[in-house]
Amino acid sequence: MIVLDDVTVSFEEVTAIEGIDLSVDDGEFVTIVGPSGCGKTTILRTVGGLVDPTAGSVTVDGDPPSVAQEEAALGFVFQQHTLLPWKTALENVVFLRTMAGKPPERDEARGLLELVGLEGFEDARPSALSGGMKQRVAIARALHLGASVLLMDEPFGELDEITRDDLGVEIRRLWRRERKTVLFVTHSVPEAVFLADRCVVVRDDPGRIVAEFDVELPRPRDETVFGSRAFQEQVADVRSALHESDG
Ligand SMILES: Nc1ncnc2c1ncn2[C@@H]1O[C@H](COP(=O)(O)OP(=O)(O)OP(=O)(O)O)[C@@H](O)[C@H]1O
Ligand SMILES: [Mg+2]
Repeated sequence: MIVLDDVTVSFEEVTAIEGIDLSVDDGEFVTIVGPSGCGKTTILRTVGGLVDPTAGSVTVDGDPPSVAQEEAALGFVFQQHTLLPWKTALENVVFLRTMAGKPPERDEARGLLELVGLEGFEDARPSALSGGMKQRVAIARALHLGASVLLMDEPFGELDEITRDDLGVEIRRLWRRERKTVLFVTHSVPEAVFLADRCVVVRDDPGRIVAEFDVELPRPRDETVFGSRAFQEQVADVRSALHESDG
C-alpha cells in the first residue's frame, strides 16, 4: 500500500505540491490527471523516492520508498522510453533486472515481450521499433524487474491516439493478469477515466487534489467502453472538477 500523508514538496520558492493525502491499495489502478505543471511528476517521484517531501510523509508498505526501491519493488515507466539504444529489446528488458542485482530470466523476459505484443522483435534495437513498441519494451522491462508497484508518468504521451487507446486496453489487461499496483499520471482526461479504478484530479498553483472519482465502468474494459454513455458522463465529471472555479 502506498500512503502519502499531507505531503508538500517545495523547490526553493516554488511549491510544487501541497498537502497531498492519497493512499493506493495493493492491486489498485489509480490515475492522476491534471494540467501541465500541476505537480503530477513530483507526486510520482516522491512515491518513487526520487524526491523527498519538504513536509509530510510517504510510505510504501509501511516503509520509506527507499526500502521498496532497494527491493526493486518499484518500476518506473517514463514519458520517454529510456531504452539503451545499443541493446536489443530483449537485452533492454533483462538489463534493468540485472542492474537491480536479480538473476536475469531470459525465458521470462521473452514471455513478457510476447505478453506486450512484441513476439518476433526480441532482437530488434530501439531504432528499429516504433514509439509504441518502445513503450511496450519499457513496460515489459518494468514487469521483468519484478516490481509490484508500477509508477507510470505519461507513458503514452508521445503516441498517437489510436496507439494510446490500444496500449490502454493492453495495460489494463496486464494489470489484471499480473496483479500490480499502478499509479498512472496523464493529462488526458479520457485516458485517466478509461484506465482507472479511481481517478484523482489535481489542480495547480500549488498542486493539490481537488477531487477523486471511483470509476464505475465494466471490468475488463475494452474499446467499446469509449462509446458508452457511462464513460462520457464520467469524463464530463472529471473535466468539470478540473475547470470548476475555486469559488
Ligand atoms: N527539480 C525541480 N526544481 C525546481 N522546480 C521544479 C522541479 N521539479 C518540478 N518543479 C516545479 O514544480 C511544479 C510541478 O512540476 P511537475 O513536473 O511535477 O508538473 P507536472 O504536472 O508533471 O507537469 P507536466 O504535465 O508538464 O509534466 C512546476 O512549477 C515545476 O516548475
Ligand atoms: Mg510531468
